[in-house]
Amino acid sequence: MTTVTTPTHDASAQASAADERRAFRRALGHFATGVTVITAQCEGQLAGMTANSFSSVSLDPPLVLWSIDKSSHSLPLFERAEHFAVNVLAADQIDLASRFARSGADKFAGIGWRAGAGGAPCLPGAAATFECRKQARIEAGDHFILLGRVERYECADRDPLLFAHGRFGLAVDYPVIAADPPAPVVPAVPSTDPPTMLGLLWDAFTVMSHDFQSEREALGLVSVSQGRVISLIERFPNASAEAIARKAYISPQGLEDAVQALAEADFLRVEADGSWRLTDAGRAHVARRRQRAVAIEASQLKEFSAAELETATRVLRALGRN
Ligand SMILES: Cc1cc2nc3c(=O)[nH]c(=O)nc-3n(C[C@H](O)[C@H](O)[C@H](O)COP(=O)(O)O)c2cc1C
Repeated sequence: MTTVTTPTHDASAQASAADERRAFRRALGHFATGVTVITAQCEGQLAGMTANSFSSVSLDPPLVLWSIDKSSHSLPLFERAEHFAVNVLAADQIDLASRFARSGADKFAGIGWRAGAGGAPCLPGAAATFECRKQARIEAGDHFILLGRVERYECADRDPLLFAHGRFGLAVDYPVIAADPPAPVVPAVPSTDPPTMLGLLWDAFTVMSHDFQSEREALGLVSVSQGRVISLIERFPNASAEAIARKAYISPQGLEDAVQALAEADFLRVEADGSWRLTDAGRAHVARRRQRAVAIEASQLKEFSAAELETATRVLRALGRN
């Protein structure tokens, strides 16, 4: 396989098979997808797994496909079942994406699903659902491609959940490219409802974080998720990988990629027991980012009095339970 690597990647190094696999997966992660939970039912047993390999194939006849890892525990049931249902997850269904990305346990516990074609579970709240009859199983390396003919589908007016670079994301419209800052968005009909605290927090976060973006770029290398990961490891040196991934809002795969990139940049060392330690360079990087963040924040907050800031800090600390 020919790999064209980034300048920071030593192409001449003998990469192990695991490194090759990770690099290939990371390259594939540049292709953004939606997220689905694909389900089936056979003889009263249920299967369901998170999958982003779903793709449309043909309009006439209506065909779709997805690929399933041959080592997946759900494979035997998907092989026996004559139908499967593709549940395209909505933006607020990240919990389902995580739940169905783990093997074992009863993944359907507490979910009020309905039985679609062939009994395949259709999950409530999905952005779209495609009930399919299995048409072919195609051998494809360590996966099988399952081709399905759509017998029934429905969709709701919900934004989809997205997946790219090993992280879940939300769709935003492409910003207008302009030298001037974008005009504020004015609703067509002014709302008479008081703003929600969550809405205000979100707007404040978006604007403040946007101002920090040029700094992130100036400080180089560390992407938003790598930045979150390095800061969290510094702050919670004994936290588990699962806890760091959860706090950073990234998938286990995204965390693995971020840790590897941070290790390649010599910001972090993986110890013999698998734990992570920041190097001196890593700690210096975190300190530099923090310094810049404090300076930018000071300018963002300069119009507020000390008393206002004290109250805001108290409220935010209580809301964030920290
Ligand atoms: C965003 C995302 C997309 C995934 N896409 C696929 C996929 O297309 N095919 C696949 O076999 N596994 C995929 N997985 C992994 C499975 O969801 C995961 O291995 C799951 O535990 C399988 O469940 P099972 O072992 O109980 O069958 C994906 C995981 C995530 C987080």
